[in-house]
Amino acid sequence: MTIVDQYTWLITGCSRGIGLGLTEQLLQDPANFIIATCRTPEKATALKALKDTAKGTLHIVKLDVDDLEGLKNSINEVSQILGDKGLDYLVNNAAVNQKIDTAFTMDVEGWGAVFKTNVVAPALLAQVYLPLIEKSTKKTIINVSSSLGAFGYGYGELWASYAITKTGLNMLTYKQRAERPDLMVVCLCPGWVKTDMGTDEAPLELEESVTAVAKVLTSLKPEDNGRLINYRHEIVPW
Ligand SMILES: NC(=O)c1ccc[n+]([C@@H]2O[C@H](COP(=O)([O-])OP(=O)(O)OC[C@H]3O[C@@H](n4cnc5c(N)ncnc54)[C@H](OP(=O)(O)O)[C@@H]3O)[C@@H](O)[C@H]2O)c1
Repeated sequence: MTIVDQYTWLITGCSRGIGLGLTEQLLQDPANFIIATCRTPEKATALKALKDTAKGTLHIVKLDVDDLEGLKNSINEVSQILGDKGLDYLVNNAAVNQKIDTAFTMDVEGWGAVFKTNVVAPALLAQVYLPLIEKSTKKTIINVSSSLGAFGYGYGELWASYAITKTGLNMLTYKQRAERPDLMVVCLCPGWVKTDMGTDEAPLELEESVTAVAKVLTSLKPEDNGRLINYRHEIVPW
């Protein structure tokens, strides 16, 4: 298969965790052509190892999503890689959190940086990559969110600064979908997963989550548009 017949993906934050796992999972299907981005490719050893066996279907692009000028310029390198193809799936996965905090104790001065990574960057990526998305078959934007950002679960006071950014990301998804119903825009909760962010206390193994996430993302239906769904393809009540 060549890129002409493949689905093209751009995923942020692929050095480790869910971004790396999802890249590995998607590569198992020759129908996928992946642009895996990370902020320090030279240190992304596991990602580079994947590229060695990917037979040309994985490209690594340096992208620190906090560097907004670099983010805007990244489209030049990505366009060169894609040639005449559009971008089928933009996966806004990169995110950060602060330590466990609450509304009355959180570091509000440091919070702007979390908001930038978790909300501003996904919004700008969607704007910058829109022409490539419009050119594609799938026209899909995935904002990787969290059920911590939903009201429906009653998760209580913890993880306040992080949860509020994910609620913002959910609303970004709603607004994107409302403005452009011709696109597929989805918020995806990968579950509580064993990664650096999820910690070893998480119930889900990485492989379990990314296998399920890849299945959900490649089987989205029109009714999923604008929704917050989880790795089991269930609606999260946000
Ligand atoms: N794990 C969970 O239980 C869980 C649950 C719900 C939602 N999520 C969401 O799932 C996504 C992935 O989480 P994870 O568990 O895989 O987190 P993780 O293990 O902490 O990995 C975060 C990834 O984001 C990258 N990143 C952070 N800031 C970046 C920046 N400015 N530019 C580019 N890349 C950046 C990191 O790159 P570096 O290596 O360079 O730092 C790393 O690759 C996030 O959106 C998270 O909110 C996770």
